[in-house]
Parts: sequence; structure tokens; C-alpha cells
Amino acid sequence: MSKIATLDIDGHKFELPFIVGSENEGAVDISKLRDISGVITIDPGYKNSGSCKSEVTFLDGELGILRYRGYSIEDLADRAHFLEVSYLVIFGELPTAEQLNQFENDIRKHTLVNEEMKNIIDGFPKTAHPMGVLSALTSALTAFNPKSVNVENEKEMYEAVCKTMGKFLVIATWTYRKSMGYPLNYYDNTKGYVENFMRLMFELPTGPYQADPIVINALDKLFILHADHEQNCSTSTVRMVGSSHAGLFASISAGVSALWGPLHGGANQAVLEMLEEIHKDGGDTEKYLMKAKDKNDPFRLMGFGHRVYKNFDPRARIIKKAADEVLTTLGVEDPILEIAKKLEVAALDDEYFKTRSLYPNVDFYSGIIYRALGIPTDMFTVMFAIGRLPGWIAQWKEMRENKEPIGRPRQVYVGYPLREFVETDKR
Ligand code: CMC
Repeated sequence: MSKIATLDIDGHKFELPFIVGSENEGAVDISKLRDISGVITIDPGYKNSGSCKSEVTFLDGELGILRYRGYSIEDLADRAHFLEVSYLVIFGELPTAEQLNQFENDIRKHTLVNEEMKNIIDGFPKTAHPMGVLSALTSALTAFNPKSVNVENEKEMYEAVCKTMGKFLVIATWTYRKSMGYPLNYYDNTKGYVENFMRLMFELPTGPYQADPIVINALDKLFILHADHEQNCSTSTVRMVGSSHAGLFASISAGVSALWGPLHGGANQAVLEMLEEIHKDGGDTEKYLMKAKDKNDPFRLMGFGHRVYKNFDPRARIIKKAADEVLTTLGVEDPILEIAKKLEVAALDDEYFKTRSLYPNVDFYSGIIYRALGIPTDMFTVMFAIGRLPGWIAQWKEMRENKEPIGRPRQVYVGYPLREFVETDKR
């Protein structure tokens, strides 16, 4: 028998449908609440509000579970590769060998970026942050691909997916090439997607470049761990922008901007900068722990805490192990890693962090691996964006296929009541 929730407002009772997800998560459906009662709900930061029903990703913050389309993140990180996981996230099923091969080939068909895009990049100063440039370039892709995709046409949607996967990787690396003053590189269709990322970034016209397979494997795993994370800030932004029927590139450009913030994806850069600062300051982790706990100090321990994970972040566990492996294999000895470990142990044992369920999140260790792999610090959040791209596409596609209405929250107005207009000379 289906459950019903009853809301009592001053003795007036309103019955609301109660829905249950496939993992038994319950939700009170308030979509008709204002119609039947005249009131709305308020929930700043959406701490208790679901914005949609979704089949893409399941996560349980208390148990530290993360699954894409029903497959555990541990299995996917261990046994699949990034484009395979991208296909799964976007289209809902693991691809057959033939589908995967086709997908890889179809992405290759879209790896050339219009040469005129280079004029746009030239307009940016070299010092521009790569995330700002990436957001602008992604939006600019709309100018070169003006036809909006018909989501109901499977072939058109598939092509839009391949186009986005192909071009986004290239322009993401161009943001770095621009900052270095290097010539912009082209995708090499004889090589794989992640290997191409390394080439596009680091190959110079002056000599051959061979990406280290250890580095490629580690990056592939990191991209998988970032591929989707249900209704986080950037994904919700992509869905929100797309809900006005703005195109895929425009929506993803907005997602890049949302991801950039230091409370979201920008935390990976902030973590490394924080660890470097602690290192330069003599490695006194206790001092920084005290700062993070001091309510009069705006400092936060970057890479700690998560809106939904209240026990541990399963991605952080996998990354921590990978960081150890990569650093050992590459023979990198990094004092920053030692500081990170010291900070983690101290925070996990501290009452402030324990009572608030603040644990290391995905960004705490990812920067250390990126650094070991030679990725510059201000490209860390771009790495997150490359990994998150299939999730943004999948969520945009799902939102449009489900014909979700335009996102338009309400508010509780707390400003002035009606006021009499006063002429300038009387103010
Ligand atoms: N350092 C110190 N105190 C913290 C931290 C932190 N990193 N995070 C939360 N707190 C405290 C906060 O001050 C508050 O204390 P009190 O209850 O005394 O006022 C309490 O913990 C709850 O914090 P909140 O800000 O209400 O929690 P939230 O769910 O709104 O924010 C968060 C989650 C991730 C924005 C926050 O934990 C944070 O700012 N962390 C640092 C930035 C970071 O690492 N972000 C990456 C998130 S994972 C990547 C991604 O998917 O985006």
C-alpha cells in the first residue's frame, strides 16, 4: 500500500504523496503543496530537497556508497576504463565491445575544433585562470555548432554526446597551452582518449612525446571517480540551465563555472595550495587545525567535509590508495603527501571534526596525484571537469528526455512592504 504524508498547518491537514526510490529512499512529494495549501517549503542550499528523480547515480552518504547505473565505484575504478564508464553513465548500460569501439571512433570524428576558436583564446591574457577560459570556450562552441539537438532523435543525441566528449577534451587542454604560450595541439586519432589528454597538454613541436602508461592509468582512474555525483552544485546547474532548453554546450559552460568554486571542484586546487602553505610555514599541522576550528577565522580545512558523505567519501579511499601506488611507482617523494597524512590523522582524531562528521573528500588526495603526474596546480579543477563531463551530459540528457519543467524555485520575500516613491530632491 502506498504511504501518504500528512502536513498539519494550524490544524488544517494536507495529504501529500510519499514516493520511494529503488534503494528505499523516501520522499514527500510537495509538487502540489502550494495548490492545495497556499504555502511553499523553504530549504536554502537544498539540504533536504530532491530536485528530480534520476536513474544515473546512487549514493548513500551514511554508508559511503557510490554507484553509477547500479555498478559500484570500486568495481568500475578497478575494472573499467573512462570511455567505457562514460558510455555507461550517459546511455545507461555497459557497452558491448562493438559499441565501445564504435563510441571511441565516433568521438574521434569530433576532435577537430574550429580554427576560429583560436581567435577567441587569443583574446584572453596568459594569466587567465583555465577554468574561466574553459567556461567561455565551451559556451563559444555554441557559435560554431548553432543547431540545437533534438533530444528525441536518438541519432542526433548520440552525435551531440560524441561531439561534446571530443571537443571539450581538446579545448580543456588548450586553456593550459595558452597559459604557457605553447602552440595549440591537435588530437591524434591513432591514440586513446586519456593518452591524448597528456599529448595535447605536453607534446611540443620540438620533439616526440611519450606518455607514461602509469600516468595514463592513474588519470583514467581519476576521471572515472569524478564521472558523476548525482545532484551536486555543478550538475544541478547544468540541469537548471538546460531546463530552459538552453543547449548542451551552454549548459555545460555554466556547469564549469559552478565547479570552479573552492567549495566544490575548486577545492582540489585549494587543498594543494593549503598544503604548500603549511609546508612553507614549517609543517605545523596543529596550527592549521586550530585555525579551521576557530569561528573567528574564515580558514577552512580544504578537502574536508561533504554535504552528503557523513562517514567517509568512497572516492577519497580509492584515491588515497592510488596516490600511494603512483608515488611509489614513479619514485616520487613528496613532503606534501606527508603533511596531508599528518593532517588527516590529526583531524580524524579531533572532537570538532568528529562531531561534525568532517572526513577527507575526493579533493583531499587528488591534487597530490595530479602534482606527481606533472599537472600544474591551476589545471586541477579542469581535470575534475574533464572527468565530470559524462555526468553532466547524462544528467542534461535525462532531464530533457524526462521532459522536466523549467527550474524556477520560489522564495519567501522578507523585504519592504509597498512604499511610496520619493523624488530625488526629497530623499
Ligand atoms: N573545515 C572546518 N570546518 C568545517 C569544514 C572544513 N572544511 N567543513 C565544514 N565545517 C564546519 C562548518 O563550519 C560547520 O560548523 P558549525 O556547525 O559549527 O557551524 C559544520 O562543519 C557544517 O558545515 P556546513 O558548511 O554547514 O556544511 P555544508 O554541507 O554546507 O558544506 C562543504 C559542505 C563541502 C561545502 C564544506 O564541508 C566545506 O566547505 N569543505 C571544504 C571545501 C571542500 O573540500 N570542498 C570539496 C567538496 S568534495 C568535491 C565536490 O564534489 O564538490
